[in-house]
Amino acid sequence: MKNNLRYDFPLLTNSRSQPPIYFDNACQSLRPQSVIDAMVEYYRDYPGCAGRSMHSIAAKVTQKCDQARQQLAKFINALRKEEVVFTRNTTEGINLVASSLALKAGDIVITSDKDHNSNLIPWQMLVKKIGIIHKILPSLPDNTFDLEGFEKFLNPKVKLVSFGLTANLDGVTIPAEKIIQLAHKNGSLVLFDAAQTAPHQKIDVRQLDVDFLAFSGHKMLGPSGTGVLYGKFKLLEKLEPFMVGGDTVATSTFTTQEFLPPPEKFEAGLQDYAGIIGLGQAAEYLMKVGFKEIEKSELEINTFLTNELGLIPGLKIIGPIDPAQRGGIISFYFDKIDHHQIALILNQSAGIMVRSGQHCVHAWFDHHQLKGSVRASVYFYNTLAEAEIFVRELHKVIKVLS
Ligand code: ALA
Repeated sequence: MKNNLRYDFPLLTNSRSQPPIYFDNACQSLRPQSVIDAMVEYYRDYPGCAGRSMHSIAAKVTQKCDQARQQLAKFINALRKEEVVFTRNTTEGINLVASSLALKAGDIVITSDKDHNSNLIPWQMLVKKIGIIHKILPSLPDNTFDLEGFEKFLNPKVKLVSFGLTANLDGVTIPAEKIIQLAHKNGSLVLFDAAQTAPHQKIDVRQLDVDFLAFSGHKMLGPSGTGVLYGKFKLLEKLEPFMVGGDTVATSTFTTQEFLPPPEKFEAGLQDYAGIIGLGQAAEYLMKVGFKEIEKSELEINTFLTNELGLIPGLKIIGPIDPAQRGGIISFYFDKIDHHQIALILNQSAGIMVRSGQHCVHAWFDHHQLKGSVRASVYFYNTLAEAEIFVRELHKVIKVLS
């Protein structure tokens, strides 16, 4: 990756002291100055509401939010901007689908054993509330997707399949096109949690023919508390909104209401305008950098990390060994060394920031009887030099803790 992109990120360049080695990008990415500026400009220059008042500040907010919707539609190649619903995050997008799809008792929803709590708990709640059947597809022994097993799970009662497109646990991306083809042939809808995909790979919702897709701003250089639910327009039209109120209706009486078309009917109440505008800017920035470059730089660093970490006795990598199958993520554990201790010492001794624990995939760790892992997740602004320091410091930490 062109090193000059690092200069766009204040935390990496403006620090008075040594910048951190930020390897926690799967949790949250850093933000470039252009995203920060877009948000500051909103608060400083036109701090109003979209679509309500008639004055010029309101008109500017409306125009900027509309522009952001267009930027996000382009980012995922949606057919029209009205297929982009702004949410607070991926979790909200999945909850929206779960609450609005009008599933009935006996309907089957399939997720996988690697799905994050955001794509697990909403379905567990529907089991309790309305009696849907929730089936969990086990992964293959190397933690990749079991396409044959999936095919066997399909039957006419399966109304929805909902998978994490890229796992936050180990970085593996599932075979999206084949899954969608099989699901559609079965008459099932497909929802993807693309929180870990949108920042790293080109997503083309039209080419995929996916029905719903949710992602978050904070992992793709955008503001925290922002996200998108994409839905095919004809499906969004059929869904009842799950959160209702101001800005969702064209009109109301004391007893009736007339909902606006999508996306407005899903965006209840006053919105995070600065966040939406910042998210549009983040999408624009990523499209300019280009996903080929992003994937190339992540693979280069992850290949180095995989080769080096593979030499450490007792270190076990979660997921396939081939880094090309794990994007920018390397997640590992030791039987006898505590993952949190490793993360804490890396931070304290060398300013290296990784995540440790169960990464909101408690069910997978519980099933595998593992306490947790250390997860390093890189992005295009990381460098091989940083990866070398990480490896050197990890060796020191292991020595101290062994
Ligand atoms: N799901 C986020 C992570 O993996 C929070 O860190």
